[in-house]
Amino acid sequence: MADILLLNGPNLNLLGSREPSHYGATSLEHIVASMTASAARDGHQLSALQSNAEHSLIERIHAAAGDGTGIVIINPGAFTHTSIALRDAFLAVAIPFIEVHLSNIYSREAFRKNSYFSDIAMGVVTGFGSLSYQLALRAAIETLAETEQQTKRD
Ligand code: DQA
Repeated sequence: MADILLLNGPNLNLLGSREPSHYGATSLEHIVASMTASAARDGHQLSALQSNAEHSLIERIHAAAGDGTGIVIINPGAFTHTSIALRDAFLAVAIPFIEVHLSNIYSREAFRKNSYFSDIAMGVVTGFGSLSYQLALRAAIETLAETEQQTKRD
């Protein structure tokens, strides 16, 4: 059962060829494969979905409430700056999540500085290219370990 869910929003299927000066040369396929391998080394299973459709991401977040997902890592792409609906989905299921961006959204156009997710995320990793995802995964794994310890203590 996958306990870590990785979600990627619109246009991230084009990573590798899309605006490499902002997003680098690594494909999403490569990022997902390397995260899956890293998660497995630490005894975790990662499930991944990329979608260009807001409703598919929302439905996957709803499903996560009942499928054993302990934490979500999400790069919402441009939905970061527009989607109250995705924000509400996270509030509805109350699963902790980490927000990830390849580029540093605070060093770009003004409209990218607003995120509908940052204030309700556990944390935000932004600006480290594909390494942002690995850093978020490390934080996710540590968080799951802490939650497990806490459950044992209770
Ligand atoms: C992005 C930043 C967003 O502003 C942009 O719309 C994306 C990618 C990033 O990973 O840097 O699609 O989320």
